[in-house]
Amino acid sequence: MNKFARIIGTGSYLPPTVITNDDLAKTINTTNEWIVARTGIKQRHKVTNETTCDLAEKAANRALEMAGINVKDLDLIILATTTADKIFPATATILQTAIGASCPAFDLQSVCSGFIFALTTAEQYIKASAANKVLVVGSETLSRIVNWNDRSTAVLFGDGAGAVVLSGSDNTGILYSKLFSDGKYLSSLQVSNNYINEVGFIEMSGNEVFKIAVNRLSSLAEKTLKETNLNSNKLDWIVPHQANIRIISAVAKRIKTPMNKVIVTLENHGNTSAASIPLALDTAVRDGRIKRGDYLLFEGIGAGFSWGSILIQF
Ligand code: ACO
Repeated sequence: MNKFARIIGTGSYLPPTVITNDDLAKTINTTNEWIVARTGIKQRHKVTNETTCDLAEKAANRALEMAGINVKDLDLIILATTTADKIFPATATILQTAIGASCPAFDLQSVCSGFIFALTTAEQYIKASAANKVLVVGSETLSRIVNWNDRSTAVLFGDGAGAVVLSGSDNTGILYSKLFSDGKYLSSLQVSNNYINEVGFIEMSGNEVFKIAVNRLSSLAEKTLKETNLNSNKLDWIVPHQANIRIISAVAKRIKTPMNKVIVTLENHGNTSAASIPLALDTAVRDGRIKRGDYLLFEGIGAGFSWGSILIQF
């Protein structure tokens, strides 16, 4: 039995087209100042022709390259996405063939908490020795379901992908993971289509989502440190879901962690849902901030609501 699931490679990808806040202000009643002050977001990336699988493929190949493993050694692929390319087959199976893997592959849908749910699922496979090498990807083309005329949501979201390769380890890796769901909040945040010949758009009560996100994530961050007996000054980095700088800083403050120990990338790509945590992780691994042995806290919440946290020794 493997004791831990350890991250051995990270990768990410953002499509080249950038939409700045000033670009949005040309078509909707908003300003760069409002968006930056309320969210911290300065720009977002948007696909032109690329699919969710295309973004996932690029992020996955970068993670596999860093991991230094042969793609044929993968035992499982889990793709967290809200914006699957088709109703079926699973986008993960399209990705499997695109990267040349031959293992089982499935999609996991938990909106902005998708990466946390997928990583926790992969951890269980590894700890049960049902898999040893697992590729976990978060990939989104949210621009397809954003109502670009709705200023309360259009400014928030972006496209992108992030990936990690996990391996069984006897020494260290994921130390703790906790997931929650509470499905009472359908009307707060949803895409209200019925799937039949209808494309829906993101609808959100931003203020309500904001309060619930701060409340749930702050409590969970405290609980995670308490249950792992880790004093917050031993925590090297928080790698949060990148939704809003005000949510991120409120959670950091609650667990007495200064902002210089929080990885923030949302100014560059906005809320990329299931892709945001692995995007932030990969950025900080590649720029040298996150180092081997560091204690990392991943935390995120998404529609449902579903939320979770992971404490990891990198
Ligand atoms: N530009 C200018 N004004 C705007 C814009 C905009 N883009 N959007 C809304 N406003 C206006 C509103 O109409 C309102 O005007 P009024 O006072 O005249 O009625 C005013 O700004 C304040 O609106 P609020 O919704 O109260 O603003 P708030 O401070 O809550 O910020 C925001 C809105 C940024 C959406 C915030 O609530 C938020 O980030 N919520 C979390 C949502 C989120 O991140 N969801 C993602 C998925 S879930 C998750 O990842 C956590």
